[in-house]
Amino acid sequence: MKKIVSGMRPTGKLHLGHYLGVIKNWLKLQDEHDCYFFVADWHALTNKYKNTEDLKENIKQMIIDWLACGIDPKKATLFVQSGVKQHSELALLFSMITPKSWLELNPSYKDLKFNLFYQYLRDFLLGKQVKINQAPPPESFDEALEKATGKQKNKIFEEYLREAFHRAFYNQKGINFEYLKEVLIKFGINKKIVEEAIDNLEKGDVGKDIDTLGFLAYPVLQAADILIYKAEGVPVGEDQLPHIELTREIARRFNNLYDEIFPEPEAILTEAAKLPGIDGRKMSKSYNNAIYLSDSEEEVNKKTMQMKTDPQRIRRTDPGNPDVCIVYDYHKIFTKDENLLKDIDQKCRTAEIGCTDCKKILAENLNKFLEPIRDKRKEIEKDYEKYEKFFIEGTLRCREIAESNMKEVRKAMRLYEI
Ligand code: TRP
Ligand code: SF4
Repeated sequence: MKKIVSGMRPTGKLHLGHYLGVIKNWLKLQDEHDCYFFVADWHALTNKYKNTEDLKENIKQMIIDWLACGIDPKKATLFVQSGVKQHSELALLFSMITPKSWLELNPSYKDLKFNLFYQYLRDFLLGKQVKINQAPPPESFDEALEKATGKQKNKIFEEYLREAFHRAFYNQKGINFEYLKEVLIKFGINKKIVEEAIDNLEKGDVGKDIDTLGFLAYPVLQAADILIYKAEGVPVGEDQLPHIELTREIARRFNNLYDEIFPEPEAILTEAAKLPGIDGRKMSKSYNNAIYLSDSEEEVNKKTMQMKTDPQRIRRTDPGNPDVCIVYDYHKIFTKDENLLKDIDQKCRTAEIGCTDCKKILAENLNKFLEPIRDKRKEIEKDYEKYEKFFIEGTLRCREIAESNMKEVRKAMRLYEI
C-alpha cells in the first residue's frame, strides 16, 4: 500500500479524455492504495488569474464529475488545495532552494509558451481571412514545402502551420521568426500579413500574461503538493513527467541540505488509450471537439453523427477502413461486445454497413456508458452540500497531516517557531 497524491486543475467540466486519461486510473488506485486526490485550484490561477469569475463553479463541477464517476471519499481522501495553506508555506521554503534554471528549462513551461504563441498566430491569420484548412494534409510537410510555389494564395493546412511553428520554436537559439516567415510566405500566405503577424509576436504582448513569478514557479508548488504528504507515487500523464522529475530533485536537495525527510516519489504513468476528439485532433475544450461526461443523450447523438470517418469513404458503397476511422477508435473503447466489434470491422471493409448505422451503434454504447454518470451527476447536483462535505472533511484531514509534516520541515530547517 503506497501513499499516492494527484491533483487536477479545475478548468471546467470533464470530458471523455479526462475520464480515460486520469479518472479511470484513479478508480483503480483508490482500491489499492492510500490515495489523496485534490482540486488544484491555486494551480488554475497560474494562467487564469485575470478571469476568476468561473473558478468556484469549475471547482463545483469538478467535484460533481469526480463523485459521479465513482471516486469514493470512503476509499480516498478528497480535498481542495487552497484549503490546506501549508502547501503554500512549503512551496515558499522550496523556492529558496530551487535554482531558477531548473524552472526555466522546464519543458512544460516551454510548451505552454508554444501554445500561446501558436494560438495567437493562428487567430491572427484567421482574422485576416486567411483560409486555414482543417482537413489533414495529403502529403508530408517537407514534400509540401518543396512543392510550394505560393500559387495557392492564402491557403494553408492547419497541421503545416503547426509544424512550421514547431520547427521555428523548438530550436537552440530561441524562436526562429525568420524561418517561420519564409515558410509561411512559401505556403502562399500574403507577405504583408505574415510580416505583421510575426512583428506582433516579436514585439507584442503575447505570453506576457504568463510572464509571472507564479507561472514560472508552478512546478515548485506542485512539488509541495506532493511532498507535503510524503507521497511515494504520483499518477500523471506523460506531459507531467518533467514536473515529477523536478519534485524528486527538490526532495533530494532538501534531504541533502537539512534532513532526510522526503521520499523521492515515482510517477505512475497512465497507459490510457488515446481518444481523439470528434474531429480527430486531441480532445480539448479549446478545439470544441470534446464529449463531456455531462452531455445529454441528444448531445452525444449529435456529436457522434458529426464525427469524422475514413476520409476515403465518400459514397455509401465505398469500402471503408476502420483502422483510420475515429468512429472505430471509439468503438474499440465503448463497444464491449467483441463479436459486434469484429462484425463492424468486417462490414465496414465490405461496405455492408454504412457510416450512419455504424455511428448509431456507437452513440448507443456511448450513452450506455455515460448514463449512470449522468444520473449520478443529477443526484449530486440536487443535494450538492451533502456531497461537498466529503471534500470539506478531506481538507480538514489533510490540514492535520500537512501541519504535522510541516513541523518536521521547520525543525529540520531550524526555523523560528512561535
Ligand atoms: N500540474 C497538474 C496538471 O496540470 C496538476 C497538479 C497540480 C498535480 N499539483 C499536482 C498533479 C500534484 C499531480 C500531483 O495536470
Ligand atoms: Fe468508420 Fe464505421 Fe464508417 Fe467504417 S462504417 S468508416 S468504421 S464510421
